[in-house]
Amino acid sequence: MPVQSSGRISRLLTGWESLPGPLGQRLAAALADLVEQGDVRGGDRLPSERALASALCVSRGTVTDAYNRLRGDGWIESRTGSGSYVATGRALDEAGALAEARLSSFEGRAARRCHDLSSGAPGGLDLVSEHSARVLGSDRLFRLMSGDGYEPAGLAELRDALATYYADLGVPTREEELLVTSGSQQALNLIAGTFVNPGDVVLVEDPSYRGALDVFRAHGARLVPVPVDIEGPDVEVLGRLVRRLRPRAVYLLPVAHNPTGYVISERRAAAVSDVLAGTETLLVEDGSPADLLLRDERPPPPLGRDLPAEQWVAIGSASKLFWGGLRVGWIRSGAPALATLGRAKAVADLSTSLLGQLLTASCLAEVDEARRRRRHQLSAGYDLAAQVLGATAPEWSWRRPAGGSGLWVRLPGTDTVAFGQHARRHGVLVVPGPVFSPVDGFRDYLRIPFWKDPAELEVDLRQLTELWQAALYPIRSDRPMNRTAVNPRRRGSQKTR
Ligand SMILES: Cc1ncc(COP(=O)(O)O)c(C=O)c1O
Repeated sequence: MPVQSSGRISRLLTGWESLPGPLGQRLAAALADLVEQGDVRGGDRLPSERALASALCVSRGTVTDAYNRLRGDGWIESRTGSGSYVATGRALDEAGALAEARLSSFEGRAARRCHDLSSGAPGGLDLVSEHSARVLGSDRLFRLMSGDGYEPAGLAELRDALATYYADLGVPTREEELLVTSGSQQALNLIAGTFVNPGDVVLVEDPSYRGALDVFRAHGARLVPVPVDIEGPDVEVLGRLVRRLRPRAVYLLPVAHNPTGYVISERRAAAVSDVLAGTETLLVEDGSPADLLLRDERPPPPLGRDLPAEQWVAIGSASKLFWGGLRVGWIRSGAPALATLGRAKAVADLSTSLLGQLLTASCLAEVDEARRRRRHQLSAGYDLAAQVLGATAPEWSWRRPAGGSGLWVRLPGTDTVAFGQHARRHGVLVVPGPVFSPVDGFRDYLRIPFWKDPAELEVDLRQLTELWQAALYPIRSDRPMNRTAVNPRRRGSQKTR
């Protein structure tokens, strides 16, 4: 029977702290909800009391109390010496992969007033509002509105603009090689649904984009991690795994990697191509954040450009450069694969919003200007974040990213899963490192976005570091457990655990 990790349970338990009653009762109610919703299944083993207490940053007594309540109400059963199991009579028992819930930080955000450092997707560029007035008043929109509004493959003018976008990056592209999707999240889902069967090995960077980890797992993939450094994925490990495991696919984020912000070096890009050449491993290249560059003016040419068409699928998005609310992404691939993907896209949602597509096509005419504005915004955001964190949490460390909208920060001696729960209970939302890892690694890392309005960013960061400075064991193991803390602020923050 599956063992539920404390990390997954902690990700699923969003908002449990604001339920009524004592902590143990709130936790029991939230866990019972997970059983009822099918997020954990009959026979699953729950984390040990100690592991869950540490992941949620509560006392072990709170978890004991919650488990006792659940046991009393028949939700869970204990087996002597081997832990607590979800009772089979109370839970759903369906086959299939359980959601990994790595995107759960997006749930319920609107309802809370908080310092939100949980999303790496920057707010809309002012260019989008400039173009929207033009698009809304255009004859083209007026003419489109006389039709039914469904375009499963995407509007011709957007695919044309995307063909130019790729040509400018050194990859000549025809309209038939492009499929418009509802965000690149849908692109990932269509690709996994088309190419990945349950049990297939998919290599992913560690860390990587959390939404992709969720998608591949949801399609039953076996995720195998490849380490990354500031130049890109470790090609030695990649080569060994490709030769030994013959993976179905490798998913890479070579430019403005999420969450580390690396931009692949020319040398490393050539080495990755060499590793994949002549194999049957599909390269899924996610270029969604590739236009968020702090150093260079435009992204380097895509990695897969020298691979045979059937071995390369590139995806992209309007979300990072322009705005996530457009919900426009795309897939670039060989025409035969695209036909299958197109059919899957029609089944998924018939068509992506034509308004969003028109607006994206219009904005793409100014892609270099958009990149310039983002570079300014993000460079200023980085400088501010580096200055605030350097002054308020000098123990934290990170490398200046070459792209992206966030810092990948190491907090020495800190259990960031526990700290994330603690911070949320104090009104700060932040995503801990393990959420970005296929093996729940990077337990002492946080991803900290720096794209927000400067005044708000500074307040949020100060709030975050203040909480960390006040945190005690078990959040920070460099702080001995101190039951007689004299600093009243520290004692205050401990009380609420
Ligand atoms: C690397 C990466 N790929 C894909 C996505 C999905 O974005 P969207 O569906 O908005 O295009 C994101 C969003 O954060 C991302 O960071």
